[in-house]
Amino acid sequence: MSTSDLQPSKLGTKAHWDGVYSRELSNFHDIGDEGEVWFGEDSVEKMVDWTLENVPADPAPHILEVGTGNGNLLFALCEAGYPPEKMSGIDYSMDAVELARAIASSKSTAPADESDADEPSPALPEADKISFSACDFLRDEVALLPGMTFNATDATAVWDLVLDKGTMDAIALAEKDGEGKSPADGYPARIGRVVKPGGFFLITSCNFTEEELKAKFTSTAVGLVFHSRRPWPTFSFGGQTGNVYSTVAFTKP
Ligand SMILES: C[S@@+](CC[C@H](N)C(=O)[O-])C[C@H]1O[C@@H](n2cnc3c(N)ncnc32)[C@H](O)[C@@H]1O
Repeated sequence: MSTSDLQPSKLGTKAHWDGVYSRELSNFHDIGDEGEVWFGEDSVEKMVDWTLENVPADPAPHILEVGTGNGNLLFALCEAGYPPEKMSGIDYSMDAVELARAIASSKSTAPADESDADEPSPALPEADKISFSACDFLRDEVALLPGMTFNATDATAVWDLVLDKGTMDAIALAEKDGEGKSPADGYPARIGRVVKPGGFFLITSCNFTEEELKAKFTSTAVGLVFHSRRPWPTFSFGGQTGNVYSTVAFTKP
């Protein structure tokens, strides 16, 4: 589906996400519920497996997740062995940032379920080293992590891996401007700016097919090329075959 075919909905508004994360933050403080994992655990597993196969944890890559929500994908990467101090999760909703930080803090102190161990170790001792910060990706510059250096030719292109799980889907549901342009139209170029040459962009989407994602991210203006895909089960309906989700990787030559 092209962005112009999508009808604006509340999922494309910051007010909606502020409401969602305000509730999830209260729930986390009240009952320890970490909130929703968008597209389920399968999507997390597919994105982590892809990363393990294509972006080695040593030397430690700089990883940026755009629209990180409660941070579930970055916690899974941390658990898979990626150094947390090189990871940044950004979200335009401050309560999402607070929620991710609160979960990180609890994971780095709460003991793992090791019933036989005399002194159980924390579930994810270094989770609180992941940086979570507020940033509207369509408007703000993404802050660098301590120790990151600017690329001399292009100060913005510094991330080895940029992740999106459901974020462009949400942005594509925002109101269009007077000329019918969606805010999502500018999203691929902003992704292209932050991926380092030789780096990757990995996206899981429910609103766009693999072919639509390729069309958006492989234009000359964006500067990415198709790298690989992770298959999802297919379904058939009305003579058409499709996938509920698409997980596609691009690289910057
Ligand atoms: C469908 S949720 C996915 C959250 C998370 N990636 C996950 O998989 O659980 C979309 C996320 O994108 C964030 N978002 C939407 N527009 C954004 C923007 N312009 N800049 C930064 N974050 C944005 C929302 O606040 C929300 O957390």
